[in-house]
Amino acid sequence: MIPNSNRPILSICLTCRDNRESEKNDIRGGSRLAQALFDRLESHKDLPFDLRGVSCMSQCKRPCAAAISSRDRFSYMFGDLDPEKTDNIDALLELPALYIAASEGFLRRRERPLPLQSRIVARIPPSISSSTLVTPLRMETVK
Ligand code: FES
Repeated sequence: MIPNSNRPILSICLTCRDNRESEKNDIRGGSRLAQALFDRLESHKDLPFDLRGVSCMSQCKRPCAAAISSRDRFSYMFGDLDPEKTDNIDALLELPALYIAASEGFLRRRERPLPLQSRIVARIPPSISSSTLVTPLRMETVK
């Protein structure tokens, strides 16, 4: 998939294990998380974001993992998501609209859905940003 716009992309790690695989037909937690999202999306049309699966996003110690990103916005990664918890699924589905509405996609802790407030593992600014959180560094700055 090659993004051709600034549409947000919700990435779900399909290979995360949540230690329930043996009772879930060996389907990994990440795949069940993606399925739970799709199950909820059946009634939604014209989504303002794309959904994609990723095979490992290097958050294997905090499964299940998901991220939201777009070309000109902050990127966020979340861990410890539970495919069995409806509020976790709802939070991921609420996130894109909040993300789109926020300047540069920047969402403070209290502005994110509750289950995504403590589960954040990374926030990365876009390559070009006017955010006051970002400081261009020069050698003189760090000496
Ligand atoms: S398997 Fe999901 S982050 Fe590595």
